[in-house]
Amino acid sequence: MTIRFDDQVAIVTGAGNGLGRSHALALAARGAKIVVNDLGGTADGSGASSTAAEIVVDEIRSAGGEAIANGANVCKFEEVEALVEEALETWGRIDVLINNAGILRDKSFAKMNLADFKLVSDVHYLGTVNCTKAVWNTMREREYGRIVMTTSSSGMYGNFGQSNYGAAKMAVLGFMKTLLIEGEKSNIRINALGPGAATRMTEELLQEDIKQLMTVEPVSQGMVVLCQEDSPNGVILNAQAGSYSVTELVESHGLWLPPEQQNAESIAASWDQIADQSAGKAMKSGAEHVIKMVTTAAQGIGHNI
Ligand code: NAI
Repeated sequence: MTIRFDDQVAIVTGAGNGLGRSHALALAARGAKIVVNDLGGTADGSGASSTAAEIVVDEIRSAGGEAIANGANVCKFEEVEALVEEALETWGRIDVLINNAGILRDKSFAKMNLADFKLVSDVHYLGTVNCTKAVWNTMREREYGRIVMTTSSSGMYGNFGQSNYGAAKMAVLGFMKTLLIEGEKSNIRINALGPGAATRMTEELLQEDIKQLMTVEPVSQGMVVLCQEDSPNGVILNAQAGSYSVTELVESHGLWLPPEQQNAESIAASWDQIADQSAGKAMKSGAEHVIKMVTTAAQGIGHNI
């Protein structure tokens, strides 16, 4: 069945360029009204301009859709609150938030100054927190919300020169994990997208022939699945070059050691069993992990709990 967003309102941050622009166009083509947010700076976060967002709004309108431009800096909560207010005044509801805005300030950790570390963290991580906080209560009140976090393979797996960016991209996943639990009863679902595409952000990193495979549109189709009414919840979807995969944080079953072996030497000697992922499992909450660890111990001492 065709996935549609008729009557729904979506906020897409960083939608003046690259993936955000493509997300905004994809949602608008499927009937959503869009707040096209973009600060309009350069790829490293310098400067600001309203032009990028306005151009995308024009594109959506000329294709028959509805959109408004917004120049909020996602790092500034008051500006994000005003954005949400404007969306509510214009259309009366917010169904979807796509946290996409981002910048890069790459350098090896040895050479990176902490101001660049903090700025990247402010945009990707706290920017995501600000936007999510600003829509959270209205979504809870309406008992409907679909939120997408944008993560990255740099966060999940690491990349040279991206300690600031990678840490922030992993932080949004940690943020998502608790929101999943808190949002469940209000029908708020949160998923994460791990994209890969040729944009100005990756322009200097990709070879020409690879760039042709890495268009933005197939990534946005993955994003659509994550924010539709029938979306999954808590999924990390990687989308790149038309390939799609799912990442999970998996924990080994583990091993209980009797008291006389609860020492560093025995732990080291049992490492293969402790780290054996053949029965690995993704946990749904911190509580599930605690229950598993304690149950393993109770079984070890022959105690039923
Ligand atoms: P881009 O540079 O083309 O677009 C990012 C947009 O965010 C720009 O239009 C920029 O003006 C806007 N923006 C930056 N700071 C902002 C702020 N403080 N407030 C509001 N808007 C702001 O980059 P691209 O490639 O489209 O990236 C989009 C997202 O996807 C980012 O979160 C990025 O980290 C992520 N990503 C991209 C990958 C890729 O291969 N292009 C790979 C992995 C993740």
